[in-house]
Amino acid sequence: MSLTRRSFVSGMAAALGYMGVRPAGLLAQASSDNLKLAPAMRERIAEYDAAAKLSSNENPWGPLDSSMEAMNSAWKYSNRYGYPDGDVLQKIADYHGVTPEHVLLGAGSGEILGVVGLTFLEGGKKVLGVEPTYNSVFARAARIKSDAIRMSLNDDYTQNIPGFVAATRRHNRELGFVYLCNPNNPTGMIVTKQEVKELLDGTPEDLPVLIDEAYHDFVVDPDYATALPYVLEGRQVIVARTFSKIFGLAGMRLGYAIAPPDVIDRMRPHSVGSINALVKWGAVAGLEDASGREWIKTQTIAIRDRTIADVRALGYEVLPTETNFFMVGIGREIRPVIDEFRSRGVRVGRPFPPMTQHMRVSVGKEDDMGRFMAAFREIFPSVKS
Ligand SMILES: Cc1ncc(COP(=O)(O)O)c(C=O)c1O
Repeated sequence: MSLTRRSFVSGMAAALGYMGVRPAGLLAQASSDNLKLAPAMRERIAEYDAAAKLSSNENPWGPLDSSMEAMNSAWKYSNRYGYPDGDVLQKIADYHGVTPEHVLLGAGSGEILGVVGLTFLEGGKKVLGVEPTYNSVFARAARIKSDAIRMSLNDDYTQNIPGFVAATRRHNRELGFVYLCNPNNPTGMIVTKQEVKELLDGTPEDLPVLIDEAYHDFVVDPDYATALPYVLEGRQVIVARTFSKIFGLAGMRLGYAIAPPDVIDRMRPHSVGSINALVKWGAVAGLEDASGREWIKTQTIAIRDRTIADVRALGYEVLPTETNFFMVGIGREIRPVIDEFRSRGVRVGRPFPPMTQHMRVSVGKEDDMGRFMAAFREIFPSVKS
């Protein structure tokens, strides 16, 4: 951890430090040594802990120090119901300039995507989206025996917005909602603010549009903008956000939807409504810690761009990205390649059909990316003449 990041540690953390419990240090301390675990399980844990984990677009530095401190001080509520929760709902609302009635919390934005499916796919309605995208919405639709209409990406891997609009009109009666992942996972590419407008202006007004902004915080392209203003206009737009990415809280599970209050009211009965005590405090601290988030963003982008340059220097195509992951065209099927990386202690992304000759790589710490590049050079010949 760099000195810059250390400087974010405030008085409380320093106090903990004197007791030998630096908040961020707790991440490294977690140990399963005292548990009675089967040898096979111990092996799996050791493999996981040692791997360069570049498969799930996580923040490799973990929660912000401010979040760790806040979560540490919330353990005292772990045996309680109805405890003070840092006013997390209000804090999220304030952060976005909306009211708490515009916000629905979920155990990760994955729960939110599921709730949108349960709410709007009733009676056999379908979801419209592109392929590949974050597949969870389609998978959940299948689980409730609903269906998806999947459109191809353009040849340059951008999303086909006029195609979206035409499809919403063509399939209007069948559709329960539209899913737009922006920036898209797995490509890392954005839909511009102009295109989002085009999509929303072109779709029937009463057709809900779910815009998944999980990677919002990494975007620098000025042509991108959040869709939140459309929520305030009262449009049938649901924006999904998560604390799993830049906030580094994936394992703690907190995400949320922002939508007009009537839409939130329709969704609420389908949500579990149960969030753990620690993450609520961690999230509140993270929202207040702009400099901590900025540090993660700057590091991520610098390491990402250096790695992309290294991969390109070997003659491989890398898609433009605005996220904490990137996609490499590998010119062969990805499935066996995943195992080749894994045997070298590096985990890369799963296949994303139909882009099965691309590899999605999450941005890890410098050391993780060094291991990735070493494995890459062994597995792939340089194609540059
Ligand atoms: C685009 C997108 N949406 C939603 C999620 C779900 O994240 P979580 O449930 O951790 O908030 C992910 C996770 O990788 C994602 O990539």
